[in-house]
Amino acid sequence: MPAGTLYAISDLHVAYEENRQIVRDMRPTSASDWLIVAGDVGERFEDVRWALGVLAERFERVIWCPGNHELWTPPDDPVQLRGVERYDALVELCRELGVSSPEDEYAVWTGADGPVVLAPLFVLYDYSFLVPGVRTKAESLARAYEVGVVCTDEMLLHPDPFPSREAWCADRLERTERRLAELPSDREVVLINHFPLVRAPTRILRYPEFAQWCGTTRTADWHVRFGARTVIYGHLHIPRVTWHDGVRFEEVSVGYPREWRRRPGAAGRLRRVLGTRAPSTPARVGAQR
Ligand SMILES: [Fe+2]
Ligand SMILES: [Fe+2]
Repeated sequence: MPAGTLYAISDLHVAYEENRQIVRDMRPTSASDWLIVAGDVGERFEDVRWALGVLAERFERVIWCPGNHELWTPPDDPVQLRGVERYDALVELCRELGVSSPEDEYAVWTGADGPVVLAPLFVLYDYSFLVPGVRTKAESLARAYEVGVVCTDEMLLHPDPFPSREAWCADRLERTERRLAELPSDREVVLINHFPLVRAPTRILRYPEFAQWCGTTRTADWHVRFGARTVIYGHLHIPRVTWHDGVRFEEVSVGYPREWRRRPGAAGRLRRVLGTRAPSTPARVGAQR
């Protein structure tokens, strides 16, 4: 059986030089290690190319799903593609680099703990994680504007050609659900999505108004329906493990320097998902704080 380990990480945010250094220091522990990158690599197209390129050269296989930040169209980015066109260009970039995306056939981990299907997903959010005490999405969004907690996605994540991010999300849900339903029912799967598939992990957000940009109620039972062994996600910048219906959910984000500097341990520590346990320390990387 191959000796490799499947690791996961997300929210590399390489626009920050300190986070770029974390990526430069990121190394596998064996030649057959795989790495999941669960979104928010960066905003600028060339930054995403750089980071995924570095990782694709080092790990036997890299599996990526988009975060909201890759889908932004920053005004100063020479690549001004928006919405679906931008996503398609990112998928094309992944193909050039040999990185798997949600548009490729799902890879199967056949190392220790396998076989397990690795399913990177892109299902966005649809504002259904309402602010407590309101009844409609419009009220929920209005509340966010009132208190001044508005995700930058509202300005930079364009849904073109869909009329709204909500409509784009609906389309993604439909496509993704269809693909997952085609998997053999006896196959275990690791579901990989930038946003948590269930709402519970968002309950500890400092600003509850932010939850509406963190997922959709329509994926609430996917970990059970599709037999997930583990769910890997990021976006919240609150790295931790929670359990839902007996399924392990792991938030694997690095986050911004001001966030990771406050946490104990090495920033950018890769999380082991499946496979051989490294004899001493797992792949540790990044600046020690
Ligand atoms: Fe992030
Ligand atoms: Fe994010």
